[in-house]
Amino acid sequence: MTDQPSDPHWWRQAVFYQIYPRSFADSDADGVGDLPGVISRLPFLADLGVDAVWLSPFYPSALADGGYDVADYRDVDPRLGTLDDFDRLIAEADRLSLKVMVDIVPNHTSSDHRWFQEALRAAPGDPARDRYVFRAGRGPDGALPPTDWVSCFGGPAWTRLPDGQWYLHLFAPEQPDLNWDHPEVRADFLTTLRFWSDRGVAGFRVDVAHGLAKDLVDPLRDIGDVRGYDPEDLPEDGSHPLWDRDEVHGIFREWRKVFDEYDPPRIGVAEAWVRDARRAPYASPDELGQAFNFDFLNAPPSAPALRAVIDGALSAAREAGASATWVLSNHDVIRHASRLALPDELSRADRETWLLADGREPVADRALGLRRARAATLLMLALPGSSYLYQGEELGLPEVADLPRSALQDPTWERSGHQVKGRDGCRVPLPWTRSGPSYGFGDGGSWLPQPESFGELSVEAQEGVAGSTLELYREALGLRGQLLGDEGLEWLDSVGQPHAGVLHFRRSNGWQCLSNLSARPVQLPAGSEVMLSSGPLTGDEVPPHTTVWLLWP
Ligand code: NOJ
Repeated sequence: MTDQPSDPHWWRQAVFYQIYPRSFADSDADGVGDLPGVISRLPFLADLGVDAVWLSPFYPSALADGGYDVADYRDVDPRLGTLDDFDRLIAEADRLSLKVMVDIVPNHTSSDHRWFQEALRAAPGDPARDRYVFRAGRGPDGALPPTDWVSCFGGPAWTRLPDGQWYLHLFAPEQPDLNWDHPEVRADFLTTLRFWSDRGVAGFRVDVAHGLAKDLVDPLRDIGDVRGYDPEDLPEDGSHPLWDRDEVHGIFREWRKVFDEYDPPRIGVAEAWVRDARRAPYASPDELGQAFNFDFLNAPPSAPALRAVIDGALSAAREAGASATWVLSNHDVIRHASRLALPDELSRADRETWLLADGREPVADRALGLRRARAATLLMLALPGSSYLYQGEELGLPEVADLPRSALQDPTWERSGHQVKGRDGCRVPLPWTRSGPSYGFGDGGSWLPQPESFGELSVEAQEGVAGSTLELYREALGLRGQLLGDEGLEWLDSVGQPHAGVLHFRRSNGWQCLSNLSARPVQLPAGSEVMLSSGPLTGDEVPPHTTVWLLWP
């Protein structure tokens, strides 16, 4: 176990960098990224200026859902390395003053998990099945699923076994849902939290945190499609049978007790798709401490919309006693350099259609997308709270929308009957060098094909180049480290030119951020000094789609 500095609040305004291990760096030329690959690139991350890394799952997995189908929560997938490699990773991160957060996937296991294998060998009604959700079917011969629930990846949320029983999977059939009313399930996850905490991890990103507690009292209720729901449509009183039930908080209060056994206390961040008004408990100090807020990512790029989202997130975090979280990209969404290249009015469904058209229709304005992405990043990094970056956004990587269909691995592709292309386009391995078989990702090619454009976007191509996206991130993270004070934010409507398309606020230490989201230039506030700009300025004007950090001498 490493000695971590014991500031218990280090995470409140930390910048986290999400590593999707299979796509980060490949050390053994098998085309798949691995932990030794991560270790070799940690100096790059320290130099970038992030505080912590979050590792997406690296556990043994059949990869039915990119590793979010975990066969053993306390081991490393042999294709990605060993526990010794993990320990070396922690030691090297520690040496570089980087903290490490890991992903924990408690809603479901892999169907390869020893518990599920035991359940399959057992007869209907055997207690070995109680760790999961098994039911008889409906209809005279039980041939119909127990409910009409549709899984998040499409298709029924139930699969029938040859012995006639059905089991629940809110995601792929290879991801059976656990029964969190079972004491052994609860106890085993506490063992897992201690296992990684003892090895020196700083915290846990909690997958599908809002799904663990379910109303499984028979008869189960029909509710239909559980996909792509709008969290604001969930009932206010927590009465949905699957999502955001009040009982879930008892689980996380138990987890908190484990977190607090350590110095500094371990932290958690909930992936919780819940109503804004019900997010606070997940993030409270007696539960996980933080919860993701994806409203910032989903907001249209307009000043009033973003301001409302920022105010809402800050006040919700205050209410929870947590700090706010900000995300623009992750392994589940279209990379923001591409999302912001598309017409603003596109809905999430329209963006799926764009992916299905291999990114051809509507035409993405890539230059505009990158410009807006850089402006959005500087805005995000100026906000109070934690920012979660996703690997490759520091290079301005676009979504790879035209991956050949034969290469697609996301289960949504098959499960949707080829109607939803899925998330592979943001998971294409990173380019480190201008040329070479996989642009420096590894010597053995890459498990998803990289486009030619990756060469000029590589780390090598951007390193030391003034104005490159990589150097912008470095400068921003360096400055942020120097400027960061308390978590206050004061909107400045009266300084400079009042303008509906502008977000302008003050942080502590004389630091101001002005983001011009409109289509026309805005005058720089008189007397201000520009520390950093997301794009070139024109005289004393901030051009459209540009963010500046100002110092008020
Ligand atoms: C959320 C994860 O981010 C996503 O990648 C995964 O498919 C689902 N949870 C199911 O584990």
